[in-house]
Amino acid sequence: MNTQSKITRKTIMDIRKMKEQGEKISMLTAYDYPMACILDECDIDIILVGDSLGNVILGYDSTLPVTMDDMVRHTQAVARGVQKAMIVADMPFMSYQTSVDAALANAGRLLKEGNAQAVKLEGGREHADIVYKMTYAGIPVMAHLGLTPQSVNQLGGYKVQGKNEDAAKNIMRDAKILEEAGAFSLVLECVPEALAKEITATLSMPTIGIGAGVHCDGQVLVINDMLGISGRAVPKFVKKYAELNQEMKKAVKSYISEVKTGAFPDERYSFK
Ligand code: KIV
Repeated sequence: MNTQSKITRKTIMDIRKMKEQGEKISMLTAYDYPMACILDECDIDIILVGDSLGNVILGYDSTLPVTMDDMVRHTQAVARGVQKAMIVADMPFMSYQTSVDAALANAGRLLKEGNAQAVKLEGGREHADIVYKMTYAGIPVMAHLGLTPQSVNQLGGYKVQGKNEDAAKNIMRDAKILEEAGAFSLVLECVPEALAKEITATLSMPTIGIGAGVHCDGQVLVINDMLGISGRAVPKFVKKYAELNQEMKKAVKSYISEVKTGAFPDERYSFK
C-alpha cells in the first residue's frame, strides 16, 4: 500500500488562503525526525528545513558549508515525521547561483528525494529567472529578502537591511519582481517593521517575518534558538519560549551522578 496517500499536508493554496482570510502563518525550522513530529503534532503550518542546519546542528559558523546532500538527508528525516504541515527546504549556498539548470536539478532533488513540497532561496531580482523556471516546472518557491545569511561576506555581517530609503526601495522592488516571477511566499529577515508592513500590504503573496515586526502575514524562528537549546546568545528578535539547554544539562548531570553513586539503575530499571 502506498503510505504517501494518507498524508494530507498543507499546500501553497492553504498558505495563500491564510493571507486572504487574515489568518497568521506559523513557521518554525526543523532538521530531524523527532522535532518534525513534535512540530506537526502541535499543528505548525509550515516546517522549514533551513540551511541554519549548518549553524545549529552541524556546528559551522555560517550556512555557507551546507551541501545539497546535507539538505536532502535532513529533509528526508523531517518528511518522515510530518503528516499535516507544509515542508519547505532551503536551497544551500551555490546550489542555485551557478546556472538555471543546476538550480532546477537541485530543487528537484529536494522534492523528489527529500519529499519537500517547496524550496526556499535567498536573493532578489538576480534570481527571477530561476524562480520563474522552477515555478513553471512545478516547484513552488519561497523567496527570502533582507538579511540573507548566505551573503554574509557581501553584507559585511548579520545586520538589519533596508534601513535607508534607497535600500528599502530596492527590497520592495525585488519583492514585486519575485512575486511576478511566481514565488508563492516571501521570508523577510531583519528589516525595519515599517518596511515589512508596506511590503506585506503591497504583495498578494504572504510574507513571513523573522526580525521584521508584527505586520508580516506570518512569523518564523529557528527552533533551536526559540527553545534555548544552544545556551549561547541569540539575536535580539528571538523570543526564547524555553531554556532547554539548562533543563538538558540538569538531566544529564543527574544521570552522571546516579551512575557514579550506583543509584541508577535501581530495581525498577533492572530485570529479575
Ligand atoms: O535557514 C533558516 O533557518 C532560515 C530562516 C532563518 C528563515 O532561512
